[in-house]
Parts: sequence; structure tokens; C-alpha cells
Amino acid sequence: MKTYFLSIIILLLAACQNNTKPAEKVAIQDVHSYANPQEAVVKHLDLDIHVNFEEKILEGWANISISHAEDAKHIILDTKHLSILKVEISDGEGKKSQAHFTLGKEDAILGTPLNVDILPSTQKVHIQYATSSEADALQWLSPAQTAGKQHPVLLTQSQAINARTWVPIQDGPGIRFTYSAKVSVPKELIALMSAENPTTKNAEGIYNFRMSQPIPAYLLALAVGDYQFLPISGRVGVYAEPIMLEKCANELAETEKMVVLAESMYGKYAWERYDVIVLPPSFPFGGMENPRLTFATPTIIVGDKSLVSLIAHELAHSWSGNLVTNATWDDFWLNEGFTVYVEMRIMEALKGHNYSEMLTTLSRQELDLALSDLKETPDDTHLKLNLKGRNPDDGVTDIAYVKGYYFLRLLEETVGRDKWDPFLKAYFTENAFKSMTTELFLERLNTLLSAEQAQKVNINEWVYGAGLPQNCPIPNSPYFGKVESALSVYFTDEKNVIITEKWSTHEWLHFLRSLPTNIDASKMARLDADFHFTQSQNPEIQCVWYELSLRYKYTAAYNAVDVFLNSVGRRKFLLPLYKEMMKTPEGTAMAKRIYAKARAGYHPISYQSVDDILSGKE
Ligand code: BES
Ligand code: ZN
Repeated sequence: MKTYFLSIIILLLAACQNNTKPAEKVAIQDVHSYANPQEAVVKHLDLDIHVNFEEKILEGWANISISHAEDAKHIILDTKHLSILKVEISDGEGKKSQAHFTLGKEDAILGTPLNVDILPSTQKVHIQYATSSEADALQWLSPAQTAGKQHPVLLTQSQAINARTWVPIQDGPGIRFTYSAKVSVPKELIALMSAENPTTKNAEGIYNFRMSQPIPAYLLALAVGDYQFLPISGRVGVYAEPIMLEKCANELAETEKMVVLAESMYGKYAWERYDVIVLPPSFPFGGMENPRLTFATPTIIVGDKSLVSLIAHELAHSWSGNLVTNATWDDFWLNEGFTVYVEMRIMEALKGHNYSEMLTTLSRQELDLALSDLKETPDDTHLKLNLKGRNPDDGVTDIAYVKGYYFLRLLEETVGRDKWDPFLKAYFTENAFKSMTTELFLERLNTLLSAEQAQKVNINEWVYGAGLPQNCPIPNSPYFGKVESALSVYFTDEKNVIITEKWSTHEWLHFLRSLPTNIDASKMARLDADFHFTQSQNPEIQCVWYELSLRYKYTAAYNAVDVFLNSVGRRKFLLPLYKEMMKTPEGTAMAKRIYAKARAGYHPISYQSVDDILSGKE
């Protein structure tokens, strides 16, 4: 089986689209899937599952329509920790018969290939299966872990290679299929998917879904819980638990405007509706771009709309990622770097250049931290990665996001927006519902740049080289200039007062990140007395302030750190705080004490990372 996987060849472009003949074949290796799409490929998934909250499993059938070469002998699907109960095949007349299948050897990262024998007449493969407690994609939340405290929640997270832990499927980003689903859930809950969604509960607890645009498996998503819907515009809306629904709708009021702005720059929104579901605080990510239904952390609901660039980001994926998709996880920067670029353009159009430059400046600070973290593994700072033998999650760093962004910004600045904007729009339009490799993008880029421009940019150094090239654009944020002046006034004399009324989250983040190095607990106390950071209810500010508090032993904030780590599960906020604590023996004791209680509330994606930090692996 291993040799099979090593020699996988994926048919891309036309070959993987619905209703097209396998004309254009580009041989691309996806080292994170066992699938054999050159022989037999998934075209449509029809899911029929029951969500069993007692046993914390999904159980039912995956009915998969396939297209295959005439002489194809089998189809290989990805699975991980699934129990495969029965496999059948059927022909064009719908005649079912028992199928012979084998499960290969389990790989700790990739899972187990499911190899099903097929006949020349086979059109569908039917798999009866159940998930297990080890399903990385599934998060089962107790009522206590929700805002309303009454009902449990189930969430899936398929990206990067976790779809295979809840559906037997060809789980590579280069393979697209449409899907339909029938999902049965406890009557008091509603089911929502990355598909056409209901807006109200029904009495039976049975929900039918349809996703008619072809998507890769990592965009399969399901959320089950006590969710209600509020429209924001005709095609935009929000799902949240009843007690926070209105607050969420207010926070996300600008979303329709974002869609309009994005469409004006990059072409028609291809997914019909754009809804957001605001999840419990233990959601490990900020957001996930599940088509038609972005999954979002509640940590952006801070009351002043200052953190909605996260929505701009997930919305941007409707073009970069969901429409034009990275062919393999080694090309991840094509998803995230492009998305950060589009996010920044949406925010610029919405709030002005000086505003978006705050965001790009903060990202640049984060990139510098990532570069220093990755000093020992310079290959991981290439845009084009080589993740063979590793978990694709290792590639989720600010290299893909922010180095990717700055590369695209350099291209924009080199050719000018009058050329760059139409180029990018055509890139999305012409490659819609297709996969993209780094090399194909660079080929396309060649048609845009003059030889002289190409040389000046130094594409190879950016894409295949380590670190950040010298010609990286430098963001300029006048608002942050004011923050820096205020900061120096503040620390010139104990009695100096500064005016900060109009500051947004971003100014405060810059303020806190730019504090002088000679801070101590007494200076922290002065800051706290003046600006009440310890009591902040803004998780972005809380995270930075608590990190500083730990570093400078400002013990007055320690209780708040404990409370924060017990109420939020977003990995971005957990990791810096646990890492900071682990730097000293007293901090280590504190980390262990807090974690003993908090771990049970975290998502596996989060607690696996925190486990590594506490056991000294990170
Ligand atoms: N698609 C990502 C999340 C992701 C990436 C999940 C790789 C699993 C594997 C999503 O679009 C994302 O980038 N989320 C960010 C927020 C964003 C504003 C940078 C996050 O969750 O922090
Ligand atoms: Zn993203």
C-alpha cells in the first residue's frame, strides 16, 4: 500500500472537474492521500448519517458516485480510525451487490487506505461506517462548554486531512466533488453544513443538504447544536446560540458590504449565500472557510467591530482556496497568502488604507516572530513547502500567510494596480473550481512581468528560498506613528497622560507590543491602573497583556490569566501564554495547575499543541 501511495498521480484541471473528459493531465503528487484518481475518482458524495451524542459517534452510509477508467479494478479512499461495516457497489440501474474490499496498513498521519474492488459497470460505492472516539475532525462539546449551557454541540474540522476521520473519501485538495446529505440529530438541535442550510429547526430532527458546487474534502463541514439564524442582508446571515445571536449580528453588520467589495474586485461570489456560524470559545481556530458557512470563533465578538478582518479573511477564501484551490498542502501559501492579500484589499476598501496598514504592520511583526521560531528549520520558511512524511498542519505558519501576502504585495507594487488587479481577477475566474500548483501560478505570473521586473522581484528567492528577501515591502501606518509618539511621552515622565480614546484594538496591540524593554511589575501596575488591561474583555488585548504580565511577574493579573485560559480554547491565544509560563520553574508550576483544569475544555487540536509545550517538545 505504501508503494501505492508513493506513486500516486493526481489528474488535475479538467480531469477532476465534473462533466469534463480527462483531457489535460498534469501529474502531481499528493503525498497526503492514498487516493488513485487517475484510475477512479469521487464525483459526488451522498451522506446518510446519524449523529449519536450518547456514544459520540457518527454512523451511517457514504454513497459515492465515481468516474473511472474502463479497465479500473479498484477505487482507493482515505479513512482514519473509521469502522467500515459493509461495502457495496451498484451499477447504472442501481443494482447493488456486496463488494470485496481491503483495509491497508495504518499510518499514524495518513490513516488507512480503503481499497474497494469495482467492475466496469460500477457507478457507485456504498460504505456503511461509524466514526470512533479518535476522530480528529470531531469535537463533542458538553452543554457546560456552550454559551447557553443547555445543549451539547458537535463540530467538525476537516482541514487539512481530517475529513477522512468522519467520512471515507478521497481526501486530497486536488479532488473535487459535489455532495448531498441527510443528517439526523436530536430533535432539540439543528444541523448545519457547508451547503444549502435550513434557517429553522424541524420537529423530526432530520435535515437534508445539497452542495452543488464541487469542493475538495477539506471543505466538508457539519455543526450541530442549539443554533438560531438572523439575516444580515438578502444573502448574508449569522447563526449563533440564541443568547448571543443579536450581539453577533451587530458585530457582523458590515459583512454584506464586504461581499460587495470583494465581488467588485475579484468577480461574482460563486457560492450563493454567505453565512457565518459563531461557535463556542473552544473552537481551536479563528475561522474556517467552510463554503457558504464560515465557522468563526466568538473571540471576535468584542462589541466594536474591530476584529471583523477575520470575516474578511474567511470570505476572501471564497475566491482564494475554495474557488482556486491549492493542489497539495505543499502549495498551502496559494490558499493563505492569497487570502491574506484579498483580506487586506477588502479591509482597505472598507476602512481605508491607513486602517489596513495597521493590520499589515501587525502581521509583519508576527512574521518576524515566525521567522525567528523557524531559524533551525530554514526549509520551513520557503513558500513552496515539502511536507512529505509530515503532518500538513506543520505548514500552517505565518510563512504561508504573511510571507505569502508580502510576496503578492511586492508583485502588486512592481506592476501597479492597473495591471495587477485584472490579472488577479482573471486568475480567479479562469481557474474557478480547479486546483493550482505553485508552478502553474508562476507560469501565469511570467506573462505579467517583464524580464526586468521578474529579475527585480526575484521570484525564486521568494518562493524557493529561506527567510524574507531584502525587497520585502515595508508597511506604513500613520496611526501607529501616533501610538509610538504617545508611548514615548507616556514613559518620559510618570505623570504624563496620553489620549487614547479613539484607539481601536490594533492601536492597543501595537502599543503593548512596542513597550520599552525595561518594564517591570511596577510599570505594569501603572499601565494597568491607567488602562485597565487586566480587566479587558477583548481576547486579543488580553492575550498580549497576560503574556507581558507573566514575563514581568505582574502577579495582580495571574488570576485573570487562569480565568482566560479556562474560558478560551483558540490555539492562537493558548500557545503564547503556556510557552511564556514554561520559561521559569514557578511559571511551569502555574501552567500545570491551570492546564489540569482547562485541558478538558480544549479541542484536540489545541490540547495536542499544549501537551507538546508542557512536555517540553516545543
Ligand atoms: N483555513 C484556515 C484555518 C486552517 C488552516 C485550519 C489549516 C486547518 C489547517 C483559516 O482560513 C484561517 O486562516 N484562520 C485563521 C484566521 C485568519 C484571520 C488568519 C485562524 O484561525 O487563526
Ligand atoms: Zn485562511
